Parts: sequence; structure tokens; C-alpha cells
Amino acid sequence: MSLWNIELNEYNKYDNEKYETIFTLANGYKGLRGALEFSKVGNKGNLIAGVFDKSYAQVTEIVNCQDPLGFNIYIEDELVDIDECNIHKFNRTLNMKEGVLYSEIYISTKSGKTMNIKSERLVSRNNVHRWASRYEISPGNFSGKVFIENIIDGTVTNSTKDPMSRAKHFQVVGSYDLEPGMALLTKTFDKNIQIIEATRIISEKDNGNAFKFRKYSEIGEKVVEVYETFLKKDNPITIYKYGTSYTSRDTQENLISIASKDLQLFVKEGYLKEKQDHIKVWENIWEDTDIKIVGDDLAQLGIRFNLYHLSSSAYEGDDKVSLAAKALHGEGYKGHVFWDTETFMLPYFIYTRPQVAKCLLMYRYNTLKGARKNAELTGYKGARFPWESADDGMEVTPKWGFDYDGNPVRIWTGDEEYHINSDIVFAIVEYYRATGDKDFIIKYGLEILLDTTKFWQSRVEYNKEEDRYEINCVIGPDEFHEHVNNNVFTNYLAKWSIKKTLEFAEWVKTEDESVLKTLCNKLGITEEDFHEWNEIQKKIYIPTSQNGIIIEQFQGYFNLADIPIIQHDENGMPMWPNLGEYKLGETQLVKQADVVQLMIMLSEEFSQEIIKANYEYYEARTMHKSSLSPSMYSILGLTVGDTHNAYKYFIKALYTDLRDNQGNTDFGLHAASTGGSWQSAIFGFAGLKVSKEGDLSIKPWIPEHWRCMEFNINWRDARINIRIEKENIFIKSDKHTSITVYEKKINVLANNFVKIPR
Ligand code: BGC
Repeated sequence: MSLWNIELNEYNKYDNEKYETIFTLANGYKGLRGALEFSKVGNKGNLIAGVFDKSYAQVTEIVNCQDPLGFNIYIEDELVDIDECNIHKFNRTLNMKEGVLYSEIYISTKSGKTMNIKSERLVSRNNVHRWASRYEISPGNFSGKVFIENIIDGTVTNSTKDPMSRAKHFQVVGSYDLEPGMALLTKTFDKNIQIIEATRIISEKDNGNAFKFRKYSEIGEKVVEVYETFLKKDNPITIYKYGTSYTSRDTQENLISIASKDLQLFVKEGYLKEKQDHIKVWENIWEDTDIKIVGDDLAQLGIRFNLYHLSSSAYEGDDKVSLAAKALHGEGYKGHVFWDTETFMLPYFIYTRPQVAKCLLMYRYNTLKGARKNAELTGYKGARFPWESADDGMEVTPKWGFDYDGNPVRIWTGDEEYHINSDIVFAIVEYYRATGDKDFIIKYGLEILLDTTKFWQSRVEYNKEEDRYEINCVIGPDEFHEHVNNNVFTNYLAKWSIKKTLEFAEWVKTEDESVLKTLCNKLGITEEDFHEWNEIQKKIYIPTSQNGIIIEQFQGYFNLADIPIIQHDENGMPMWPNLGEYKLGETQLVKQADVVQLMIMLSEEFSQEIIKANYEYYEARTMHKSSLSPSMYSILGLTVGDTHNAYKYFIKALYTDLRDNQGNTDFGLHAASTGGSWQSAIFGFAGLKVSKEGDLSIKPWIPEHWRCMEFNINWRDARINIRIEKENIFIKSDKHTSITVYEKKINVLANNFVKIPR
């Protein structure tokens, strides 16, 4: 078994949608769900970052664009449909090292004809507008006429499986016969974004063309190209399918002209060249990002799966898009961007590929206008980033959804989950700590800090009797409890982010006073405001318990019914206890890490004793009903020495999608959990931390059966390689740097190995 490969060896059509997610190929620009061409069962997806539309959907959503994957084989007049065939051999392998999806099926059709089809597919990282497939088709027990049908399908809708929400987001505005090849041009309804998909198929047999006849047709909203060929028993032919995609978001050029020109060039350069260049880019990505875990194949394969998909989902080419909760892997959460990006995924990019991290932060800068509008529309000042964000920073959280029993419920998160503002500030500060990118802070970061603080200033409520500032009627990370007062996570991070804003404003003032002056001028911030911000941050109320140890998640939480979790399912996930007469929100059951999340993000603010006590208290009450939760419990578990559970949570996080342990992988990747998995490995097992003073440190603990764990991180322009073995730790850096290992400061000279006994 290769620890770079995700393999599926058995076919079950009921799992098609799940594997479409697992086998998605993406490059940050585009995601093609891993549909199997030869089955009609599934929920295909061609999602292009930044292409959003509302039209008659409930809210703005990512558009499932026209599908260019269509590829049918007919033996005489019999369609090769795997669901109607006997399957003698089935294999799909995602080679994560290469970023290529390989398949092989050997089938016999209803009429008894046998055929072997080997295929590969890639969505290029070398040129994000290109994708391609290669098919090797061998007739087993017959010689005869075969038709190959190439299709671009413009009938695609969003929410195809859900008739109440189904929506079509584009119309076909052009069908093109490229003679050979074809293209389908569409246009979204609201914003008139044009999208083009162009494809061309080429055959190869005995070094020549094997297609004898071509017919192009426009059938409704589809363009179709059919080729006739004649196959001889045991004599395979190879077919290449080339594809290019462009939208009016990414070019001013005429789309049909750019897509067909690129397609022509692509064909000329050939599949193999693109594949090699694509693999080279992946090699570089892995060079930056891979985590090697020797001695634990389960963990090794699992972590690579998460890193692979996280890397696939973002790139540095477009600073007006971000990474959605389901990435480019499915329509779940409508392609919206949540705190998942800044809190869960961004650290991975900050420490491995900071150019991508910057781009993701720029998305927030570029959507500030919408965030300001959100604040204004809800009666506040400054910038209020939306809980769910699409293309313009306006709030797009749906107002209605369904509860666990399928009953309609009002969704309050868009109204009340304010902590997103501080999560973004937290991410900016973390980016700066790790990269030292002053330019970013001066040009963009500070503006976000100032304007989100202005929001908090208008949002907090002064309680005169207690002489404190409160933030009431909110939802914290734990979404089981709505309309709560003084959620500690929200209040603490608001306090922290106001403090950071004041520090950064002071710092920018010394760097270049005119920058601060211009911003104050632009945003309407006076000297009194700075004073008031300082007052607010000092006096924001943080509930604790009476003994000052266990932090009360929000005011009144300790008075709720304390119902113990007794049973766990086969994945080790808590099962619902009997709530008796109580509604969920009336209990102390928690959806996901909340106080625990705070203790990870602001660990330097809490003593070890407090962290341990709170971990134990909340661990016993957390249902992990969000995939964001297990990785965080793994990190804190390692901090407090609960290593057994920490490892279990780590594996749970790694296998969120591969084992479908949230039961909804078919809707898309659990992208936050992929980032959480990286954090769990690096912040958890390697114990990487940045101190209050800004120093980098590690404090590794690795399980008995791990012989070694190795990874690279970027730290202020230096690439540091850290290898943790049982007896020693080895550190190498390409620049002179220093790092604290188990409390001892180590100087690392450029390109020298330092060995530190454990
Ligand atoms: C979680 C949120 C998360 C969202 C998107 C919800 O179930 O509670 O924290 O942001 O999913 O992943």
C-alpha cells in the first residue's frame, strides 16, 4: 500500500456522491468533483472559485457550472453504463503525490461484451485553466464499432437532489463547434458572469488517429461531439480529453477566443507535458507542506489526505476569493466562507505557503465594503464581517434551515455569531507574527483592525451597575446555545482584538504616522475613540466560575441541565443522551470546542491548571457535532497530557471524510477539519507555539509507535525543517534562526543540522 494513495476497490453506486468529494480534483481556481464518467448516479460538480449567483435561490450560492466531463462509450448501440454491467475489476486511486486520479474498470455489458477502461484525470496546477483526462480502452471479447461521445452539459442545476431548493444559475449564451472540439458559453443570471468550458478529444492508435467519423450537435443546453471508431479485440486505443475553462471574472478577453486558443495550445503541447508540469508543481507543494509520520500508516495516509485537499483548495492567483467551508468539493454550505478559513485553515498556509495565506486575508480586505454595509444595515458602525460570506462581504447566511429531526428552524448564526470579526483579526496577527510582513499590516491589515474595533465599540453594551462592558444576545462557537449573554469566547477575543488594534495602531504611528492619520480620516476615528477602546478592552466582562477555575462558557451556562454523555458510536463519536424534558439549548451539552477553542487560540492567557480543568469539564460535555471539534480537542488534550484521547481525536479529525464520520461527506470536503488536522499535528504533537514575546518554540510529544515525525515550516522567511525522533530532535534551517525546544533556546545556523537530545 502506498501511503500517497487513496484507493477504492469496490463499486457501490450508493457511495458515488461520497467518493465524488473524496476524489475531487481542484487547483484553487476550479474544483471538479470526482464523478465516474460511466455512471449516471451521483451529483457532479464543476465549481469555479468566485462564481456566485442568487437568482431564485434562498441566498447567493456558488454556481455549479456547466459540466465538461461528459464522456460516453457506446458499443454499437449499447451505452457502457457501469450500473447496468457486471463488474469484474474496479479500482479508483487518487495519487496525492501527483494530484492525478487513476481508474481501471473491467466490465461486461448486458449483451456480454467485455471491455477494460483505464483512465486518468487531472486538474492542472501548472495552468489553472486546464484540465484533462486520458482513457485507454481495450475491447475484451469483441471487435466492432464503438462510438465515443464527448459532452458539455449546460442543464446543470444547484441542489439537484433537493427539489425545494433546486436552482439554475446560468443560461447558455453560446454553443461552438471548434471543428474539432467544442465549447459552451454560459452567463449567470444576477451578475452576468460568463463562463466558458471548451473541450476536445483526440484518439491514438498505432501512432495515428483512430476516429473515422465526427458529428457535432447542439442538443438543448448541451453540445455533443460523437466519434465513430472501430475496435479490434485486445487492441486498445487511447483517447485524450483536453479541457479549458475561463470566466469573465478572470479575463477581459473574449472568452471563446481565449478558451479555444488555450485549448489548441494545450493539444499541441500534449497531455504528457501538462501532466509532468502539473506533477512538478505538486512536488513543490509537497516539499513545503508534507508531514512525514513514520511508524503509523493510518496517521500518515490520513494526514496526507487532509494536506492534499487543503492545498488543492486555494492558490495565490485571485485575492477576491477565499476558501469555502466545503472548499471546491461540493455545494454544501453553498460555497460560503466562514471563520473556518481564518481559524482552522489559515495557520496551515501561514506556516507553509504564506503567499496563499496573504491572498486569503486579502479576500477579507477586498470585501470590507460589504462588511461595512452589514454593520450599517444592522445598526452598528465600522465593519461587521458576515458569518457566511460569498463574493462581496455581505451577510449570506440563510435565515431558515432544518434541525436534526428535519423540522424547519430559524437560523440565527448570521444575526448573532459575531466572533467572526475577531477571528479575522486573530488571523491577521498570526500571519504577521509568522511572516513579519509589515507591508501587509500597513497597507491592509490595520484598516481591518481599526474598522472591526469600531464595530465592537458600537456593539458592546455598558452595564452601569457592574461598571463593565457586555456583549449580549450572541452565539459563540457552540451553536447549540443561541441568544446567550457574554459568551467567553466572543468577549475574550473581542477584548484581545481591541487590544491588538491599539498596539498595532501605536506601532504604525511610529513607522509612518501619515498612514494612521489617513486611516483615521477615512474611517472617522478620533483620539477619544482610542481612549474609549482602551476603556472597553479593560472592562469587557469575562464570566468565570466562583472558584475562578472553570470558565463559564456564557452567563448562566452552569445553571443548565447537566446531562452526561454515556454512549459512543463505532467511530468513537458521542451519541445523543436522552434529553428527557429538556430542549438541547437548555442543557450543558456543547456542539463543538468553545472554551477549549479559546484556550488554544489564546493559550498564553491561561495557566496550565486552568487549561486542564476546563479541558476535562468541557470534554465530558462536547458532542462534536461539528467536524471543527475533534482536532481542537486533540491539541488541547496533548497540552494537558491526555495523550490517549488526543490521539483518538487526531485520527477522528484525519478520517472525517475518509470514514464519513459526520455523515455528510457527499456535500463536500470538511475543509476546516483538514486545517485542524494540520494544526493538531503541528501545534499538538510537535507543540509548536509562538510566545507572547513573539518567539518560536516547540515541545513535541509523539506516540510510542511513531518512529519519527518530520515537517517544514516557514518562519520569518526561513524554511525550518524539524525532525522529531524518539531520542533526538533535529533542526535545520536555510537561514540563521532561533527556536526554543523544551524551554531551551537553540540557535540554528543556516544550513546546519542541530541535534537536540529529548
Ligand atoms: C459549525 C461552525 C462552522 C460551520 C461551517 C457549523 O456546523 O458549527 O462552527 O463554521 O459549520 O463549517
